Amino acid sequence: MRIALSTGGGDAPGLNAVIRGAVLSAVHRGWAVYGIQRGFGGLLGGDKVMRLGPDEVRGITHLGGTILGTTNRSSPFKWPVRQPDGTVREVDRSDELIAAFQAHGFDALVMIGGDGSLRIAQQLFEKGLPVVGVPKTIDNDVRGTVNTFGFDTAVSTATDALDKVHSTAESHDRVMVVEVMGRYAGWIALNSGLSGSADVILLPEIPFDLDSVCRKIAERDARGRRFSIVVVAEGAVPRGGAHVLRAPAGPGGAMERLGGIAERVAAAIEERTGKETRALTLGHLQRGGRPTTFDRLLSLRFGAAAVRAVAAGEFGTMVAHVPPTIRTVPLKEALATPKTVPLDLDTVLMAREIGVCLGD
Ligand code: F6P
Repeated sequence: MRIALSTGGGDAPGLNAVIRGAVLSAVHRGWAVYGIQRGFGGLLGGDKVMRLGPDEVRGITHLGGTILGTTNRSSPFKWPVRQPDGTVREVDRSDELIAAFQAHGFDALVMIGGDGSLRIAQQLFEKGLPVVGVPKTIDNDVRGTVNTFGFDTAVSTATDALDKVHSTAESHDRVMVVEVMGRYAGWIALNSGLSGSADVILLPEIPFDLDSVCRKIAERDARGRRFSIVVVAEGAVPRGGAHVLRAPAGPGGAMERLGGIAERVAAAIEERTGKETRALTLGHLQRGGRPTTFDRLLSLRFGAAAVRAVAAGEFGTMVAHVPPTIRTVPLKEALATPKTVPLDLDTVLMAREIGVCLGD
């Protein structure tokens, strides 16, 4: 057996551990493993396909990033081609990709990706490619799995930042508005906000009302708690409002870039409450660095489980964490709708019960 690994799309802490888990368990079966570099660039562009063995994956479990490199602009269905006039046209190169895959003699593709890359995996599967997916995204918004890898690390980074922001907010009697990632799902905001004792948590799932946010800050002030911490997911929207965008969707399958909501919320709070307010965007800090113990273990398990799924011929599936085990779910099911935060989740109920303002 010759299997190919791809780590296309945005990176997430744990990618290298997935690669290591997959490579070592495939080698254990006597299989050959190849890594496609930089998304699908290794098969369609100038990048390469590299042989991966025990030497290549030694000492990488604890490292952030991916030894294969990645890009979120290499969809084979929307491959960006620069035209002589400077514009970019998207071309469907999926047939070429399948031909390149076959020319390399690959028997299966393990696609380690978030919703965008897993969607590409599903489309390739529909065209006959034997694919197994591994759910990667710090946003934790892939259905069918309780956790995607990278999420725990991102929550831990954001919680650490909130702990630090607390002391400076308190010394200055300020409101600090901290923007965390989470395009359409508020998992990072909710879990880090609660663990980091935020007073207000704004999620994409609950359009927020600034009056309610300011009321919470004023109530705290009246009780002598003259500082407040607000956590806002990048995809949170004011009631009747829209997402704050940094850039529109781009060629190659690049999604629109969100960001900037913290600045807007901070300006509105300062104007309405008269309190000195600062905004901070954690951004890609949440995607980088060493994976937590939880993510390392989950990633190793995902990598080995993906190889087990290939061995069992379970193509068109994704490995999923359904505690206490890892199993496979159909990719189609996992991608049907994003896994957003259910409003009746006990964590949401608990947030309300302990007095956290969710902006509604
Ligand atoms: O999907 C994961 C994610 O971290 C989102 O939360 C964020 O909007 C996006 O990636 C940013 O991606 P990039 O800056 O790499 O395009």
